[in-house]
Amino acid sequence: MFRTNTCGELRISDAGKKVTLAGWVQRSRKMGGMTFIDVRDRYGITQVVFNIEHDADLCEQANHLGREFVIQITGTVAERTAKNANMPTGDIEIIADSLRVLNPSEVPPFTIEDETDGGDDLRMRYRYLDIRRNPVRRNLELRHRMTMEVRRYLDSKGFLEIETPMLVGSTPEGARDFVVPSRMNPGQFYALPQSPQTLKQLLMVSGIDRYFQIVKCFRDEDLRADRQPEFTQIDCEMSFIEQDDVIRLFEGMAKHLFKEIRGIEIEGDFPRMSWADAMKYYGSDKPDTRFDMRFVELDGVLKGHGFSVFDNAAYIGGICAKGAASYTRKQLDALTDYVKRPQIGAKGMVYARVEADGNVKSSVDKFYTQETLQELRKAMNAEAGDLILILSGDDVMRTRKQLCELRLEMGRQLGLRDKNVFSCLWVVDFPMFEWSDEEQRLMAMHHPFTHPKDEDIHLLDSDPAAVRADAYDMIINGVEVGGGSVRIHDSELQAKMFEILGFTPEKAKEQFGFLMNAFKFGAPPHGGLAYGLDRWVSLFAGLDSIRDCIAFPKNNSGRDVMLDAPAALDQKQLDELTLEIVKPEEK
Ligand code: AMO
Repeated sequence: MFRTNTCGELRISDAGKKVTLAGWVQRSRKMGGMTFIDVRDRYGITQVVFNIEHDADLCEQANHLGREFVIQITGTVAERTAKNANMPTGDIEIIADSLRVLNPSEVPPFTIEDETDGGDDLRMRYRYLDIRRNPVRRNLELRHRMTMEVRRYLDSKGFLEIETPMLVGSTPEGARDFVVPSRMNPGQFYALPQSPQTLKQLLMVSGIDRYFQIVKCFRDEDLRADRQPEFTQIDCEMSFIEQDDVIRLFEGMAKHLFKEIRGIEIEGDFPRMSWADAMKYYGSDKPDTRFDMRFVELDGVLKGHGFSVFDNAAYIGGICAKGAASYTRKQLDALTDYVKRPQIGAKGMVYARVEADGNVKSSVDKFYTQETLQELRKAMNAEAGDLILILSGDDVMRTRKQLCELRLEMGRQLGLRDKNVFSCLWVVDFPMFEWSDEEQRLMAMHHPFTHPKDEDIHLLDSDPAAVRADAYDMIINGVEVGGGSVRIHDSELQAKMFEILGFTPEKAKEQFGFLMNAFKFGAPPHGGLAYGLDRWVSLFAGLDSIRDCIAFPKNNSGRDVMLDAPAALDQKQLDELTLEIVKPEEK
């Protein structure tokens, strides 16, 4: 037997047993005539002792072991005299009587410890070493447990896991495609799926009824902490459903995961908020509802008092930071600088403190009487000791988004965004379309197969911007962890939708003809949702970036620094693919 036990499992009750362990040298220490080697594997660390008096040769061999050597040792489990309460195996050690070096190791480029000295780039370059570290490995273990629970839950609800192809045509999620040239079809390209959206809809036409897949999706878009160019969805679709059926089933799955993975029982239904309210009260379609601090619109209170910034604004909104009146001028200036950063783009910030006696002191006192400031206090529901922060602007949505950033920053500064507190929410009633300045046309906010709300269908021609969709997102702590919709299953309505989105009938046929055709053969009413697995895992693990729960992630420029991909192709491969590279400067 290669090993009798793992490095994490031996306890005092095993004392006296003869065991063989295999693993990596975590560290070695020489003390007097003894050499101590900590051996590590996935399961833990066990201390091994070599005694010069017991076996001088063996001890000498042990003295030559370096960090990360792979070794196999045999010995006897013994009770330690100096126990280590911080280690599960800390009551015992192995008195070694044989040692085999299975493989030596170069000195690793960073220490394989929980707190490593390796920077991000170095750790990514040697990700296989990084994964030896507990925090990284634990994230992968959590990810595994979550996918197992997802499969268990969905299987219990009658879902079939079905794979769909990776080499497909363009899919409709609105990002750029990654494309793959086809050698056998010169000049033609596959696209990698941005999601299996159209394929899962086809499976509904096939009568599959309940489908799911834990599936890689590919999107060529700008990266952020919660975005990777390839990421994993828990993708689902159901037939013969209404919006509420989908929401309830996947809320059930969310609760199942909270219970099984985090030990948290969530009672009652998740709240639902309309998109319009989310924008009005939080300035975001993914509000962080761990804390309140809702927006209050202040036009009625603050306009018409001679302060031209407010008088000319299209929107004035405030938030009330409870207990923050003690903020110093310096802290307030820093907040003003924060909202004025180009990424946020506010022009300035007005503040008002409610003092202990109830008086309000603001940064624009010269324009407002105490009476008006008291009206402000009432409108904001502010009490003594609270701080009111106000932004205004000439574009309602833009100003709300700026106020959203300020709210999130205040939440962070006041410690209201605890990673161990979870606030779940459905955002519903999304608009069907949004205007794209870049494309100069209406775009589908979710995707072009989303069903408009029945009661809004009559507005499709006259006022498409007012049409709401049967679309829903699940938000946890301000993170969009999933989204979906009820789909159109009628080819005429689908054709109409393409028309509003600016597709010519030819273009629609070219891109989605297969789906429109399929709908002619008895498509059932259907709908579904996709959860972002990486986001779920990082939420449960309390990570700042989804990268940390992916075994081999890409960096911010979309590179795999370990594999050094993407890379140039050699000429032979280019020729086979009939591709010619035009260098940017030669364009
Ligand atoms: P959507 O585009 O909203 O919907 O994606 C579903 C969920 O996938 C996650 N997600 C991402 N995670 C990491 N990196 C990315 N680049 C990334 N993009 C999206 C999010 C998101 O909520 N076909 C539809 C679903 C449906 O209608 O059934 C879709 O893909 O958590």
